[in-house]
Amino acid sequence: MRVLVTGGTGFIGSFLVDRLLADGHGVCVLDNLDPRVHPGSRPEHLAPGAELLVGDVRDRERCTAALDGVDAVVHAAAAVGVAQSLYRVEHFVDVNIRGTATVLEGLLARRDRRPKLVVLSSMTGYGEGLYRRRSDGRLLRVDVRSEVEIRRSGWEPVCPETGEPLAPMPTPEESALLARNVYALTKRYQEEVVLPHGLGGNAPAR
Ligand SMILES: NC(=O)c1ccc[n+]([C@@H]2O[C@H](COP(=O)([O-])OP(=O)(O)OC[C@H]3O[C@@H](n4cnc5c(N)ncnc54)[C@H](O)[C@@H]3O)[C@@H](O)[C@H]2O)c1
Repeated sequence: MRVLVTGGTGFIGSFLVDRLLADGHGVCVLDNLDPRVHPGSRPEHLAPGAELLVGDVRDRERCTAALDGVDAVVHAAAAVGVAQSLYRVEHFVDVNIRGTATVLEGLLARRDRRPKLVVLSSMTGYGEGLYRRRSDGRLLRVDVRSEVEIRRSGWEPVCPETGEPLAPMPTPEESALLARNVYALTKRYQEEVVLPHGLGGNAPAR
C-alpha cells in the first residue's frame, strides 16, 4: 500500500513513517518543515526510505501532487500547542481547518481509488478528560479551570464537591467533547469535518 503521511517529519509522524516502512508500505511525506519545529532541511530522523515532498497542506497543487497514487493518508500535519493557539489564532485555524479541508477535497476527488483517511485528533478536545474520585471510585469529568482556580487548588484537579484529589483515567472516545481553546477547537473541528465522509476503515493490503 502507498501511504501519504502529512506532517511526517514531525514527532508522531516520523515514528509512524518508520513503522509503515517496516511493515513494507511505500511512504510519501508532505511537510512544510515548519521552522518552529525543524531547524533546517530534511531532518536526519526521517527514514531514508521515505519520499519527502516539502510543501504546505493548504497548497492545493502540492497536495494534489502528493496524493497521486496514494491508497491511504495519515493526516498528522498541524499547528500544535494550546498556548500558541491563543495568540496565533488565524494561523491555527488556517492550518488545522483549511489544511484538513484541502487534504479532504483532494481525497474526495480520488474516491474511485477508495482511499482511506486517518486524522490525528487530540485529547484536548475532551477538556481535562475523565477522573476517578479516590474515596468512592466515582468517575467524573472536570471542567477546564481558570488560572485563578489552578493557583487556588493546585495543578492536579480536585473534586468540586469534596475537594479531594482526583486520579486521571483514560477518557473514552465517545465522551462528550469539551474544547475550550483555539487548538482544541480546531482539532475537534478536523474530526467533525472528516467523519461524515466515511473514509475510515480498513484499507485493502497490497
Ligand atoms: N504530541 C502530542 O502529544 C499530540 C497529542 C495529541 C494529538 N497530537 C496530534 O498529532 C499530530 C502530530 O503532532 P506532533 O506532536 O507530531 O507535532 P509536530 O509539531 O512534531 O509535527 C507536526 C508536523 O507538521 C508539519 N506542519 C505544520 N504545519 C504544516 C503545514 N501547513 N503543511 C504541512 N506540514 C505542516 C510540521 O513541520 C511538523 O513536521 C497533530 O495533528 C497533533 O495535533 C499530538
